[in-house]
Amino acid sequence: MNTKNYQLGYEEAKIKLPKRDDRFGISIILNNVSDPINVGSFFRLSDNAYLEKIYLCGNTPTPENNKKVKITGKFSKKTTPYTYHENIHDLLDNLENQYDIYIVEITNQSISYFENNFKSNKKIALIFGSESRGVEQSLLDRNYKCIHIPIYGYDYSMNVANSASIIVYEIIRQNTSK
Ligand SMILES: C[S@@+](CC[C@H](N)C(=O)[O-])C[C@H]1O[C@@H](n2cnc3c(N)ncnc32)[C@H](O)[C@@H]1O
Repeated sequence: MNTKNYQLGYEEAKIKLPKRDDRFGISIILNNVSDPINVGSFFRLSDNAYLEKIYLCGNTPTPENNKKVKITGKFSKKTTPYTYHENIHDLLDNLENQYDIYIVEITNQSISYFENNFKSNKKIALIFGSESRGVEQSLLDRNYKCIHIPIYGYDYSMNVANSASIIVYEIIRQNTSK
C-alpha cells in the first residue's frame, strides 16, 4: 500500500473530487465591485462551488470589457453564466420573488453568519458591495437580511471575494448536511 501523502495532479484530482450534475441554487450579485482581480476571483469561486449565476451590476467590470477579469477567472468565465445590469434596482425587482436575497455587509442590523440558518427551499442570491464604499444605502433600504463575517483583528472589513467564499461554502454546507 502506498502510504505517502502527496498533492494530486489535475487528472487525479478530477477523479477524487466528485462533480455535481446540477448547479447549487446560489447566485452572486456584484454591485460596483470595481477591481477586475476581485471579479475574476468571483468567477473562480462560482465555478469551484458550481453556482447558478453571477449578476454584474453598475461599474463592475465584465470579462468582455476587462482582460484582467478573464485572466483571474481562468476558464471559469466560460463555465459560469453571467449577465450585466446597469441598474441593480431593476434587477432586484425581477429577482425578488424567485430568491431569498441576502446582503453580505457589516451593518447595524447584520447578524453573524455563524447564527444564520441558510437552509431554504428557495434559491439564494447574495449581494456584495464596492471595495471602497461597501453596499450602498439605497440597497440597505430594501430591507433584505444582512449577514456579516466576524472580524477579530484590527481591520473593519475583509476582501470582498474572500468574504464570498466563506458565505457560499457555509450555505452549501448547511444545505447538504443531513
Ligand atoms: C472591503 S468591503 C467594503 C469596505 C468597507 N465598507 C469600508 O469601510 O472600507 C467590500 C465588500 O466586501 C464584503 N465584506 C467584507 N468584509 C465583510 C464582512 N466581514 N462581513 C460581511 N461582508 C463583508 C461586503 O460585501 C462589502 O461591501
